[in-house]
Amino acid sequence: MDVAFEGISKWYETRTGRPVNAVAHVDLRIDSGTFVSLVGPSGCGKTTLLDMLLGVIPPTTGRIALEDRGPGGGTPPRRPAVVLQAATLLPWRTVRSNVTLLDECGPGARRRTQRKAHERDAQVEELLDMVHVREFADRYPWELSGGMQQRVAIARALYTRSPLMCLDEPFSALDEFTREALHIELQRIWDAERFTAVFVTHNIQEAVLLSDRVIVMAPRPGRVVADIAIDLPRPRLHEGLTDTAFGGYVREIREALRSGSAAAA
Ligand SMILES: Nc1ncnc2c1ncn2[C@@H]1O[C@H](COP(=O)(O)OP(=O)(O)OP(=O)(O)O)[C@@H](O)[C@H]1O
Ligand SMILES: [Mg+2]
Repeated sequence: MDVAFEGISKWYETRTGRPVNAVAHVDLRIDSGTFVSLVGPSGCGKTTLLDMLLGVIPPTTGRIALEDRGPGGGTPPRRPAVVLQAATLLPWRTVRSNVTLLDECGPGARRRTQRKAHERDAQVEELLDMVHVREFADRYPWELSGGMQQRVAIARALYTRSPLMCLDEPFSALDEFTREALHIELQRIWDAERFTAVFVTHNIQEAVLLSDRVIVMAPRPGRVVADIAIDLPRPRLHEGLTDTAFGGYVREIREALRSGSAAAA
């Protein structure tokens, strides 16, 4: 799915009465099938941009255009899939029925829930296999570790087959080993499915590892200060983090963050 932020600004009303300019003048085009990261310090408007993309909040100015050109493109427009920092699984539903939860929501719910059980089950098994939690399909979320719950949240997002996946710091609460494993998984899944990914992170190395493009943001007001194409072969492994080319991108992003924040101070 192609995504375009056109002249986007966002002002929040606050209780003190003084509005906050969370995002100012963002113009950004993301081509279908691209993996893009938004990187920037706390408060620079990353979640605000994502929430506007998801349609959770409206922009104050500008518009966001979504165009689905994929094989399933056209009408009705499909909703973006979401993965957040917390897995947000429903504790009273099994892993399997958490993955299929969105079948029961929104327009077309009746048609989706009446789909043959064996078709649905086969799809769920395949996804849970992909994220390595298949043997937990009939367990409850609270019986799983945090990393496993996050894998289920990724499976739930993939189940929707949305051509757009929005991820807001999905790995930040995880330990280093789990995070590295999920970096590899996510690259593999994205390579197979080629959805458009908008990935928010504080972690520069994570952004370089996963992305085709890294958008660097600065605060007060939140804005884009650099747009860096990452031209490294895939799959990208953690062993490659010490390579010169990889290190060059990390330095370039760090420099953009530093000068953006200095300008804001
Ligand atoms: N509902 C709200 N009401 C008022 N101000 C808000 C609201 N949500 C966010 N803000 C303000 O907008 C700015 C951007 O917030 P946002 O959550 O988008 O930042 P972020 O880049 O996602 O930060 P973090 O990395 O900490 O998640 C901040 O100054 C924040 O205080
Ligand atoms: Mg945020």
